[in-house]
Amino acid sequence: MLQENRKNPELQKEFVITEIMYMSKTPMNKIEWIQKLREEENLPSEGYEQLLRSPWSGEEEEFLYTNAREVRIKNYGHSIYMRGLIEFTNYCRNDCYYCGIRKSNCHITRYRLTKEEILACCEQGYRIGYRTFVLQGGEDGYFTDERICDIVGEIRHRYPDCAITLSIGERAKESYQAFFDAGANRYLLRQETSNSFHYGKLHPHTMSMEHRQQCLRDLKEIGFQTGCGIMVGSPEQKTEYIVEDLMFMKELNPHMIGIGPFIPHQDTCFASEPAGTLEDTLHLLGILRLMFPRVLLPATTALGSIHPRGREMGVLAGANIVMPNISPLEVREKYRLYDGKIGIGEEAVRSYQNLCRRMEAIGYEVQMGRGDYPRNSDEK
Ligand code: 5AD
Repeated sequence: MLQENRKNPELQKEFVITEIMYMSKTPMNKIEWIQKLREEENLPSEGYEQLLRSPWSGEEEEFLYTNAREVRIKNYGHSIYMRGLIEFTNYCRNDCYYCGIRKSNCHITRYRLTKEEILACCEQGYRIGYRTFVLQGGEDGYFTDERICDIVGEIRHRYPDCAITLSIGERAKESYQAFFDAGANRYLLRQETSNSFHYGKLHPHTMSMEHRQQCLRDLKEIGFQTGCGIMVGSPEQKTEYIVEDLMFMKELNPHMIGIGPFIPHQDTCFASEPAGTLEDTLHLLGILRLMFPRVLLPATTALGSIHPRGREMGVLAGANIVMPNISPLEVREKYRLYDGKIGIGEEAVRSYQNLCRRMEAIGYEVQMGRGDYPRNSDEK
């Protein structure tokens, strides 16, 4: 009967109309949106909105994470890429309301590593096996383009087989180009939020969302593997703002996405704001893996800081990167972006061994290769 109907154009039309009416009457549930996201790698905003809203049943969560893991395993197997993180300066000219190293925090001791100290971190990291060094710092005027290029150039010269990632905030396009030419390969710069009203709630008016987004476009244009990202549960964040973030990310098509829960810091204006939740962060990781099958997606330090097994859970929700700290132990305490940050007292070799063990325990394997983004031939 059905076969016959298909052959009859009039009946077929009716069938399609009935189906549309049916679909418009029964809103799609989370399982259906997840299926659609896996197939199409994108959703209309109402789909994202529903997926970002609680509550989730255990079955729905399992369905999301199973799909996210399948996509991740298809692209990366069970490999977890490790990045050695060097926090080389906590001076910052910005005053972001959420951040522990914001300019107006007079309760912290400021430090900056010398070129030699940074190189010593790389040397130790290289011996452990790291093949990516991430140089992260506040927006510190001391580190002029010339100084950054000098450091990047020296690391490039000594370790030609390593990837160099910079995470030093907003600069002019010419500066980014100079860093790239000196040998940097990747750049991390979170957009923090893609809603300008919300951006204004998190940052002083001297900073602008448009400029942040322009920097990200410039970085991609130059040829950096580019990373963006947000904090989950930052003060005044609304579900629809996260939807805007997802739309922005779809348009940018980044190679890396860093997301972690917002965690209050005692010396900031947001000291008594609630932290973002583990659950919301894991849901978003799963969604991002389905939206961007090949993206480099870290289980972040912030995620590990709000739950003892946060990073393992992040990996099981689709993440494929961890970034242990390889900064000198003496400065770790001073680079406290939020309270309760993990890894402050853990020596580089120990944290490496520790993470290898933890990843093995959940059936994954730490990989010390460069772990570049697998670009398609037509991709920037
Ligand atoms: N909680 C969580 N993440 C934070 N960051 C800064 N402050 C906090 C905080 N209080 C994140 C920002 C920044 C990255 C380096 O750290 O997203 O981009």
